[in-house]
Amino acid sequence: MRAVVVESCFGNTSKVADAIIEGLNSAGVEVERFPAGSAPRRLSADLVLVGAPTHNMSLPTPASRGQAVEKGGTAPARGVREWIADLESVDGRIVAFSTTAGGMFAGSAGKAIVKEFKRRKIRAERGQDFTVKGTPGPLADGELERAREWGRTVGGSQA
Ligand SMILES: Cc1cc2nc3c(=O)[nH]c(=O)nc-3n(C[C@H](O)[C@H](O)[C@H](O)COP(=O)(O)O)c2cc1C
Repeated sequence: MRAVVVESCFGNTSKVADAIIEGLNSAGVEVERFPAGSAPRRLSADLVLVGAPTHNMSLPTPASRGQAVEKGGTAPARGVREWIADLESVDGRIVAFSTTAGGMFAGSAGKAIVKEFKRRKIRAERGQDFTVKGTPGPLADGELERAREWGRTVGGSQA
């Protein structure tokens, strides 16, 4: 089984997750998708893909989620940051992905995800960052196709 755990305020990271899942499915792989806020605290899968939007060059916090809501987004009470902090056990290869506005000072929630897992002494790899055109999106041209292809290869390699 492959699992995708995702957080999203404006829907872009969620769309990337859907495209990654389409790619995994096309490689003949079954996937379970969890919103980070309700993902299990014990998770066992061959591959766990964890994705979030980049906020302030890092993972969303309660404060940055509040700013997203002020800009018209929706904010889960708990996201990837809280899920990682509260994890009891996770089994399998972990690969991070994120959405960013791109550019030199964008930072990456993917990088922050790897760091948060490291804090918990859990190994995670940095996967791909996908570019949005602005805070509410949309995704830059071709990014959903890239996400689909990445899903196919990252999951397919272990099928
Ligand atoms: C409070 C806040 C801070 C942000 N900070 C950054 C940032 O440091 N770097 C960046 O590339 N994008 C930043 N963004 C833009 C987000 O990356 C963008 O809204 C997100 O990728 C959209 O994904 P979503 O639709 O899944 O929420 C920020 C957005 C918000 C709301």
